[in-house]
Amino acid sequence: MTNKQGSIVCVGLGMVLGAHLAPLSRKFIEEADVVFMGVTNVLAEQWLQSMNENTISLQPFYQEGKDRRISYQQMVDAMLGEVRKDKKVVGAFYGHPGVFAWAPHKVIEKAKEEGFHGHMEPGISAEDCLYSDMGIDPGEYGISHYEASQFIRHTRNIDQAAYLILWQIGFVGDLALSSFQTEGHHRQLLMDVLLQSYPPEHRVAIYESATLPTEKPSIKWIPLSQFSNVKVEHHSTMVIPPNETRQIDGVIQEKLQNLLRAKKLNKNG
Ligand SMILES: C[S@@+](CC[C@H](N)C(=O)[O-])C[C@H]1O[C@@H](n2cnc3c(N)ncnc32)[C@H](O)[C@@H]1O
Repeated sequence: MTNKQGSIVCVGLGMVLGAHLAPLSRKFIEEADVVFMGVTNVLAEQWLQSMNENTISLQPFYQEGKDRRISYQQMVDAMLGEVRKDKKVVGAFYGHPGVFAWAPHKVIEKAKEEGFHGHMEPGISAEDCLYSDMGIDPGEYGISHYEASQFIRHTRNIDQAAYLILWQIGFVGDLALSSFQTEGHHRQLLMDVLLQSYPPEHRVAIYESATLPTEKPSIKWIPLSQFSNVKVEHHSTMVIPPNETRQIDGVIQEKLQNLLRAKKLNKNG
């Protein structure tokens, strides 16, 4: 047990402004001594300020040309600085605070190491909206998720009988982690990697969820071979449907049948 009073709670605001915030997360925001705002637009910041007047924007830590790893570390340091003053700190991030987001996980880990309280409250992520908007159930075929730059830099065994979802395609291949948008030839590289597994005519979707209650989601279907020519935003996500049918593993199937038979025999005898 610790006597330290400082705490950090990272909460998720969801994707649609004002519509996805869970009551528990709202309570943490309202009762915080200071709220760090990890949101990408002024409207969302104003909404947070209407719930708590002591807010600090994390946006100034980002700059075009600045390594994002430095920005993330500075965000962690800024939040921890307030925790160490024994304040109740909230990090409010759009979507789910723990989905493709380094700083919220790190600040909680560090705070706990130093004996403070830290935890995360989930939020509705882009992934959750994608399942609703595109009518996909992850349980049907299975889904692999990758960060796009990581996906092309490492060799992978793609399961083509499952969905493949790639995040951060708008800045794929930015080795310096310092750009908000990469050029067409970076996207060409991603396309070339995918074309090693999928045929050029395979249809893929560029997905953007709504972020305002008045907006509709955007789902653009294109043949994979067109990917390097289409406009991709920093908030776009790529959805690649299965290209193969699932194959039954005959050996496992037989073992399962044997188990079933044995169970029936036990029951009857
Ligand atoms: C740094 S991650 C943050 C994800 C966020 N924490 C969440 O819970 O969805 C940014 C990536 O999330 C995805 N993303 C963010 N906003 C999105 C949106 N409105 N529609 C679809 N994907 C989105 C994109 O792949 C984008 O590059």
